[in-house]
Amino acid sequence: MTVHTPPPPGPPIGLLVELTHRCPLGCPYCSNPMALERPGAEIDTETWKRVFSEAAALGALHVHLSGGEPTARRDIAEITRHASQCGLYTNLITSGIGVGQKLMDELVQAGLDHAQLSFQGADKETNDRLGHYDGSWERKRAFAAMVTRAGLPLTINAVIHRVNLHQVSAFIDLAIELGARRLEVAHTQYYGWALANRAALMPPRKAVEESIALVEEARKRLEGKLVIDMVIPDYYARYPKPCAGGWGRLAINVSPSGKALPCHAAESIPGLEFWNVRDRSLSDIWRDSPAFRAFRGTDWMQEPCRSCERREIDWGGCRCQALALVGDARATDPACHKSPHHARIAALAAAEAEANAGGEAIRWRSFKQKVEA
Ligand code: SF4
Ligand code: FES
Repeated sequence: MTVHTPPPPGPPIGLLVELTHRCPLGCPYCSNPMALERPGAEIDTETWKRVFSEAAALGALHVHLSGGEPTARRDIAEITRHASQCGLYTNLITSGIGVGQKLMDELVQAGLDHAQLSFQGADKETNDRLGHYDGSWERKRAFAAMVTRAGLPLTINAVIHRVNLHQVSAFIDLAIELGARRLEVAHTQYYGWALANRAALMPPRKAVEESIALVEEARKRLEGKLVIDMVIPDYYARYPKPCAGGWGRLAINVSPSGKALPCHAAESIPGLEFWNVRDRSLSDIWRDSPAFRAFRGTDWMQEPCRSCERREIDWGGCRCQALALVGDARATDPACHKSPHHARIAALAAAEAEANAGGEAIRWRSFKQKVEA
C-alpha cells in the first residue's frame, strides 16, 4: 500500500498490551480478534520487558496490561514490576478470575497503580451467564475487595447491550458498593465477536437514549463520589468517535505474539503490514511501520471527511468499522451522519434491535470458535 503521511505528531501516550488471549470467560462482545492467538505463539517475559523499556524511552506514560485475561500469564507480577520500574503507570484490565490474595500482594509489591475489573451483569445470574462462567460473580467481588483493601484505585467496566441495558442503574449501585472510584459504562462496539453477535446484542434506540439520560442524571448526583464514563453506541450516533484517538496518533496495541497494531481490530483490514516487536524497536514501529502510516493524519481521507471541519477532531471515525460496514477502510465511518451509508446502518440497527429480540443464538468467545471467512 503506497502511503504519503506526515510523521507521528509526538510519542504515543500509552501502550495496550494483550499479554495473552487465554481467558476463563467467553464474553460474546470480546474485543479480541475472532482468530485468537494460541498460547504457544506468545512472546516471552524478556521481550515484554524490552518493549516496556522502549515505550518509556519513547515517551509513553502508561501501559494497560490486558488480554484475554492478563493474570493467566505466570510472569504477570514480573512484567508489571518492570513496567513500573520503567516509570510507566500500570493498569491491570482483568476479569478478576484467578487472582488470589498471594498474587494480589505480588502485584501490589510490583508497583501496580490501578485495576480495571469487568462485570458482565449487575447481578449474579446475568453476570455468570454473559461471561459464560458459573461462579464468576463471587470471584469478581472478592477481587474488588482485595483491590480496595490494598488501597489501589478501582474502575468497574460494564459493557452494555440489549441483554443487560436495563441494569445501568444497578451497575452504578454495584460500583459504589464495591468502592470503585470510576465506572465505565460502554455500549458494545460492533467489531469481531460483537459483530458476529450483533443481532443478539443490538439495543433499540429508545433504550439507548434512556441509558444516556440515566447516566447523565447519576453523574450529577454522584459528583465527587463516582466518575462515570460512557461510550455511546456508534450506530445511533450523529458523529463517530475518534477511534483509538486517531490512527497512529496516541497509542500502540501489541498482540500476544508481538504484532504492533494501531487499534485492536486492525488485523481485520486486508493489505496492512504489521511489524512485530520481536524484530523491530517500538520507536521504528511507531515512526515507520506501514500499518501505522496507512491512515495517519488526513492525507488518506476521501470526501466528505477530506473537506470536513471535524477531520482533525474525530479523524474520520473508525477504519475497521468503515471496512466492515461499507467495504472500504478509507471511507467515512458510517456512524457519521455525513456518510452516504449512515441511514442504511441506522435502519439496520433498528431492524436488528426489534426483530426476534432475545431469541438469537449467541456465539461465545472461545478458541474453538470456527472463524468464518
Ligand atoms: Fe468526522 Fe468525516 Fe464525519 Fe467529518 S465527515 S464528521 S471528519 S467522519
Ligand atoms: Fe480499528 Fe476503530 S477499531 S480503527
